Amino acid sequence: MTDHARETAVEQALGKLDLDAKARLLAGQDMWSLPALPEIGLASLVMSDGPVGVRGVRWTADDPSVALPSPTALAATWDPELARRAGHLLAQEARRKGVHVLLAPTVNLHRSPLGGRHFEAYSEDPLLTGAIGTGYVTGVQEGGVGTTVKHFVANDAETDRFTVNNLVGERALRELYLAPFETIVKNAHPWGIMAAYNCVNGTTMSEHHYLQNEVLRGEWGFDGFVVSDWMAARDTVGAINGGLDVAMPGPETVYGTALAEAVRDGRVEESVVDAAVRNVLRLAARVGVLDTVPPAVAEAARPSGIDAGALARDIACRSFVLVRNEGSVLPLPRDVGTVALIGTAAREARILGGGSAQVFPDQVVSPLDGLAAALPAGSLTYFVGADPSEELAVAGEGFALRAVCRDAEGRLIGETPLPSGQVQWLGTDLPEGVTHDTIHSVELTGTFTPRESGPHQFGTRGVGGFRLTVDGQVLFDGEKPLGPDTGPFEAFFGAPDERGSTALRAGQPVEVSLRHLVLKSTGVPIKSIVFSLMHQDPRRDADELITEAVEAARAADTAIVVVATTERVESEGFDRKDMRLPGRQDDLVRAVAAVNPQTVVVVNSGSPVELPWREDVAAVLLSWFPGQEAGNALADVLLGAREPGGRLPTTWPVRLRDAPVSRVVPDKGELRYEEGVLIGYRAWEREDVPAPAYAFGHGLGYTDWTYESLELVGRTARVRVRNTGARPGREVVQVYVAPLAPAGIERPARQLAGFTSAEAGPGETAEVMVQLPERAFQVWDDAAGCWAVAGGEYSVEAGRSVTDRRVGARTTV
Ligand code: BGC
Repeated sequence: MTDHARETAVEQALGKLDLDAKARLLAGQDMWSLPALPEIGLASLVMSDGPVGVRGVRWTADDPSVALPSPTALAATWDPELARRAGHLLAQEARRKGVHVLLAPTVNLHRSPLGGRHFEAYSEDPLLTGAIGTGYVTGVQEGGVGTTVKHFVANDAETDRFTVNNLVGERALRELYLAPFETIVKNAHPWGIMAAYNCVNGTTMSEHHYLQNEVLRGEWGFDGFVVSDWMAARDTVGAINGGLDVAMPGPETVYGTALAEAVRDGRVEESVVDAAVRNVLRLAARVGVLDTVPPAVAEAARPSGIDAGALARDIACRSFVLVRNEGSVLPLPRDVGTVALIGTAAREARILGGGSAQVFPDQVVSPLDGLAAALPAGSLTYFVGADPSEELAVAGEGFALRAVCRDAEGRLIGETPLPSGQVQWLGTDLPEGVTHDTIHSVELTGTFTPRESGPHQFGTRGVGGFRLTVDGQVLFDGEKPLGPDTGPFEAFFGAPDERGSTALRAGQPVEVSLRHLVLKSTGVPIKSIVFSLMHQDPRRDADELITEAVEAARAADTAIVVVATTERVESEGFDRKDMRLPGRQDDLVRAVAAVNPQTVVVVNSGSPVELPWREDVAAVLLSWFPGQEAGNALADVLLGAREPGGRLPTTWPVRLRDAPVSRVVPDKGELRYEEGVLIGYRAWEREDVPAPAYAFGHGLGYTDWTYESLELVGRTARVRVRNTGARPGREVVQVYVAPLAPAGIERPARQLAGFTSAEAGPGETAEVMVQLPERAFQVWDDAAGCWAVAGGEYSVEAGRSVTDRRVGARTTV
């Protein structure tokens, strides 16, 4: 299919539509899709989150999805080709679920370590972000599925995200925040972009004419569609003139009839609507829902038959970052002896971050499962040690539940089994036979078989009436009203409400019922029924838990402690307040390390956390949110079947107060990006900033490398490295460029200009070529409004991290 033929088909289809049909096409018909227009052969176009899996149009666990490692993990592989393979798998998943457009990738930057969606973005560096994003988008679209690169732009934190006005200088915008979008648009030609919720320099992004029409389309030549973030489109005229093509979700939006009216009233030119419709029809043609043209990628050309589990496991191994390995304690020897595995997350792995990125895999391999399968029988013991979740979680383990829907007269109108205590019915996604007009109550009912004896806590999340009964005992009968503090997103991201506890016996099933009176108006412009039954196992005495784990660690040859954040710490919808591991996990690690010199700590978090004991343990392995194959990948790496392949995509501070940029809370609605172009390592490299725990780019494998030479051939660095260790290995060769002469403006001491991987056996050398982009020698000239060469002498250095540069050469620009 040539572009010309596609454009002709798009024009023909556009010519057949009247104003009402055009306006209707630009508005979501429900939570995830656009209306079909059979008169032009257009089927309904379906979108879905994104980015670690494809959830599909249902937001519950009854339609399972593959869960890959978190985006921070994917970036830690420093391998765009692997990101491309992840994209192929996600396209395969999307096709399986009838999804045409994936709402991913997230390419906002790690400006502050506190950003709530830090785990969902790639890096603090725009070049690495752009490279991984390019691989990802290329892969998904080679599978015939569209992407929406998000959130355009400067959506780098969550506090007041719908309204915050981010004040960002043009130079920082160009050199940092816009840069990954620009790279991806130019190299991977994404079929979509998602406009962010926030304002940039006074204008909300879904109406930002300058950034959307002039920069994105005008300067960069973007020809895909721009979709609003969910519920971000607020003004018909502002949005359509500001370059927003599609308002999601529906059916109540500022487009549709409101848009047709605005044209009839003369407030909007019809040609502007036509341009938006053209963008949507082009997307439809590409993904194959416009039947007058073949899709951009023929079915036979789409990568298929991909083994999801194997790829998820491979990416996880390649993403784990070994930041400390005293006395080469890892990999564990073949005759490992006895191992004490400790930590709540070792049994219940935290595999992904919370919010819209959440998917529901049909199976998860925990570290306990993975290690138990890989180690000789009888060598592994497990202890909780510390429980980081101070709150109730969605009822899961041990619950067998179904949802029963009734009308106002109490008549049964529908029912459905539920894989967990979470109900998230959005738009028309309701059990068969049920409508928002008829439904009055939902009862979650079934049994709970406890794993442990003792007082079990129960609770609810969401707003509306609740009656909670456990084992015949009414624990709560009342209402959680919608109020100023409960907000429309309470049911998704809010704190759970404890409703009472009851003593239960391990293995003895009891009846459970949570009856919910549905609120007819929740303050969300889309009809939804969202609430959860929450639960917490009996709390054991924290000191006792630690003592028990310490005794096990003392008796074992090796102690492995898995520490983690929780859903209430890392999620969309809010930012972190600190970088500490929740609960008593720091005390646990210290106590275990004190009795066992062979203590290995696995850090299961999507973003940096403080590790105050990091110098007191033998090894520290960062596993991010590792996806559904978590435990298998961990066993592969700990036992040496694979080397940990990751390098840090973001600087890891010793403590929050050292971080040069951390503020995420707006002041009077404004968040000033006053640090300009100095975020991430660009700021950590300043002399007045204390050294971080682990620098950007850092990560140890299982072999050693020396850097032998760097030679510049034009704008290409030729780097020779030698594997001086005893195992074959893979090295991420990073090339940094440092201006030597002052440029008259503040510039980072150095910046990443390119990277690639080298592979070599013991004693062998490998030579790699890294092309340096023009931008490495340019700055954005604010006064002239364009890129300008920053002439002078530069040092070009290659090494293992931004602070561990081994070889270099000079060049003059
Ligand atoms: C998120 C987007 C997501 C959308 C749809 C929004 O709240 O910011 O990233 O794609 O919801 O779930």
